[in-house]
Amino acid sequence: MAAFGTVFTPEMIISRYEQNQWSTPAMVSSNSISLHPGAHVLHYASTCFEGLKAFRHADDSIHIFRMDKNVARLQQSSALLALPAFDPVMLSNMIMDIVRQYAADVPSPPGSMYIRPTHIGTEGSIGKAAAPSLNSMLYVLLSPVGDYFAGGAKALRLLLEDDARCASHMGMVKSGGNYASALQPIMKARAAVQADQVLFCPNGDVQETGAANFLLIDGNEIITKALDSSFLHGITRDSILTLARDRGMKVSERELTVDELLERAVRPGAEAALSGTAAVLTAVGTLIHENKEYQVGGGEAGQTTAALRQALNDIQWGKAEDKFGWLT
Ligand code: COI
Repeated sequence: MAAFGTVFTPEMIISRYEQNQWSTPAMVSSNSISLHPGAHVLHYASTCFEGLKAFRHADDSIHIFRMDKNVARLQQSSALLALPAFDPVMLSNMIMDIVRQYAADVPSPPGSMYIRPTHIGTEGSIGKAAAPSLNSMLYVLLSPVGDYFAGGAKALRLLLEDDARCASHMGMVKSGGNYASALQPIMKARAAVQADQVLFCPNGDVQETGAANFLLIDGNEIITKALDSSFLHGITRDSILTLARDRGMKVSERELTVDELLERAVRPGAEAALSGTAAVLTAVGTLIHENKEYQVGGGEAGQTTAALRQALNDIQWGKAEDKFGWLT
């Protein structure tokens, strides 16, 4: 299977905001876009995006998971980046139109169609360092995908980075700059300790990785950072916490320090996991901090992590009732 996110459907759907109005969305080739070299996005990083998925059910019907939440989050990111506001109904229709157009290409489970709505500032003006882009492009790419983490069910190795300078990003805005600023720490961690990801813990506050939210599972309790403006409000995070509560688990959304994490993670039965559209729910087996390795649950993927991932997949794949109304 091709690497995650490298294969695209031949077309995407696009609307442009120019002269104070959105153009009628159109299907165009997904091979290229044309931008002024002085486009706002290329200089001042006015870019935000979403990641959601469409799934094929056994009867061949296609279902998009939590589209409303993703559309609302892109509206919020756009507002925080001072990009032009768009009608959520327009974006929802764009997503449904392109998914319908390429319904035949939606893989069967365990694969899915990754949907990448993207909003960028296109005004060609390098003078606008402190002013919003008046023009923008909103487009939706489709990419048939399998697993994001190449190791499949293998538990991940995370390096804990508590230097606040390495975690300087735009928090709850799902913006390209967040991912770019996480790259160097991730590459260094890969080279130094073969870590899969870096868990950013500015000043000892356990926050998130570059690509996913972090959850500690200790017996019947899930502990994860309470929502604030410093990190991404994951929709998969919300889905997993909802499923956990529904199964009678205790969900503690609160501050978690590196000290508490390292102390609890090595207890028998403890588990840790990353959640995200791409990550789904992937087990963490090793935490690395100050040159010391801590095995979570003996370094293997935990049972509660597997059960929660299965419960999420069962709804996405149409094998369990969609009791929360998450599918479109
Ligand atoms: C997602 O999970 O959808 C993301 O945007 C993360 C990205 C690393 C693929």
